Amino acid sequence: MPTLSYTLKMFAAALASVSVVSLAALYRFQLKLIYPNTLNDARLKTDTPDEYDMPYENMFLETPDGEKIHTFLLLHDRTLPGYKNKTIIVLCPNAGNIGNSLPIVQLLYKEMGYNVLIFSYRGYGESTGTSTEDGIKTDADTVMKFVMEHDQLSNSSVVLYGRSLGGAVAIYIASKNYVPVKAVVLENTFLSIRKAIPHIFPFLRNFTFLCHQVWDSEHDILKVSPEVEMIFLCAEKDEIVPPDHMARLYELSPATVKSRTVFDGAHHNDTVVYPSYWNIVHDFIKSIPPVEH
Ligand SMILES: *[C@@H]1O[C@H](CO)[C@@H](O)[C@H](O)[C@H]1NC(C)=O
Ligand SMILES: *[C@@H]1O[C@H](CO)[C@@H](O)[C@H](O)[C@H]1NC(C)=O
Ligand SMILES: *[C@@H]1O[C@H](CO)[C@@H](O)[C@H](O)[C@H]1NC(C)=O
Ligand SMILES: *[C@@H]1O[C@H](CO)[C@@H](O)[C@H](O)[C@H]1NC(C)=O
Repeated sequence: MPTLSYTLKMFAAALASVSVVSLAALYRFQLKLIYPNTLNDARLKTDTPDEYDMPYENMFLETPDGEKIHTFLLLHDRTLPGYKNKTIIVLCPNAGNIGNSLPIVQLLYKEMGYNVLIFSYRGYGESTGTSTEDGIKTDADTVMKFVMEHDQLSNSSVVLYGRSLGGAVAIYIASKNYVPVKAVVLENTFLSIRKAIPHIFPFLRNFTFLCHQVWDSEHDILKVSPEVEMIFLCAEKDEIVPPDHMARLYELSPATVKSRTVFDGAHHNDTVVYPSYWNIVHDFIKSIPPVEH
């Protein structure tokens, strides 16, 4: 007959293995939670800028580890009078693909007149590979190497524009202090994914140590040159990223020129449609050297 201590030991072992199995599943499954790359059929079809009447170069930039990063480059003719000499790099949120950001690209390229570069992180859209923090950082470095070696882009003022996860990528790029990067626009991004988890998944609040996709913006933002100007666009009622994350990033930012706008009543994904949003973005970009009049 099994002893009580044997039973208890087996029970404890079973309990431990159940939790180890589910925690291991959680450890692996988090890539799918954090990078939902198949949402909205984003792996199957990518809209292209010609559908918005915009000329573009369709490129696949190769990373040092052999992935191909799908990139759209939209340039203005720099020999024309009134050429703006600014390039906006659009860093996408974690759902959809670069095709979903084309309405934003259209505003920046057509309405405002800036060069635009946008790319799908590995694992998204037509880019190869699997999305991970290290991988996406390699993609960002690959894109910046391309920018630095490109005659027209490296000779323009570069503005990083990142929403949500894209904000973390923007802060990562800015922390490397590439010379052409003059400014950063951040919308509804987080201090780190670890710090956002208890808000999104309260039942996981004691397991954030298992989160291996950290995106430590709280730390990276300190490394950005104070000369890089920043604006922080915040949803008052962000239901995904706690609004105090943006407030704290604003405080931590070393930028000598920075400002923060809170959109009353806005949520995580509708801030961009607030009427004053694009005026704020446009005024900010115009104020970056070379200043537009
Ligand atoms: C910047 O433009 C100048 C003049 O066109 C060119 O000589 C130079 O190579 C460009 N810089 C880079 C890094 O391409
Ligand atoms: C374009 O902007 C860059 C970076 O701010 C600057 O170095 C360059 O002189 C500018 N070129 C023109 C033609 O304004
Ligand atoms: C998390 O840990 C705290 C103490 O550290 C405990 O009070 C709480 O009940 C735990 N929550 C869950 C959901 O396990
Ligand atoms: C924003 O997210 C909410 C759910 O949080 C959803 O109901 C809504 O349709 C989304 N809006 C847009 C513009 O994606």
